[in-house]
Amino acid sequence: MKTKIGVLVSGGGSNLQSIIDSCENGILKNLAEVAVVISNKADAFALERAKSHKITGIFIDRKKFADAVSYCNAIAAELKKYNIDFICLAGFLLKLEPVFIKEFSGKILNIHPALLPKFGGKGMYGHYVHEAVITAGEKESGATVHYVDEEYDHGKIIIQKKVSISNIDTPVSLAQKVLKVEHEIYQKAIKAAIEKEKK
Ligand code: GRF
Repeated sequence: MKTKIGVLVSGGGSNLQSIIDSCENGILKNLAEVAVVISNKADAFALERAKSHKITGIFIDRKKFADAVSYCNAIAAELKKYNIDFICLAGFLLKLEPVFIKEFSGKILNIHPALLPKFGGKGMYGHYVHEAVITAGEKESGATVHYVDEEYDHGKIIIQKKVSISNIDTPVSLAQKVLKVEHEIYQKAIKAAIEKEKK
């Protein structure tokens, strides 16, 4: 039986794409499948990506829920409908409530575009991360896939990969370099997490 993955997204979904591609033709082939994609943004391009691979993509509107807990419960209910084994956060910008994280403890993975524990935490997402790295004069950055626990960017690290930063790099060029590495390591981290579970 293939491991079923639910992917949570808010944006372009290039990491989602890398996971789908890996399930179809890469290291996750015969091992895993993306069973559902959930977005908190109606116009996330990630939903188009899901559709073009005949994967169910669902928009769940935060505004329709009174509070964050009921919103997370709605996401959890959808994931359960699809018998999800693992949840991959791939550019999902809303914070998941502790009740959600507890329910799926050890089953939620996130990718962060820096070398955690550096440049993580609240407010450290998207271009803010790369700007902070460049401003700090770092000589290297990279990407991290980790399990999600109740603290931002804190759970156990599964894989990290570095990229070097030259003195002509800008936050934009660094983001491109890091994104390439993200696509490479997310699938490897998923494979490692699945294999660990099967042991
Ligand atoms: C990635 O940089 C990821 O590390 C971060 O959000 C971005 C999502 O990009 N969490 P994409 O939507 O997968 O292209």
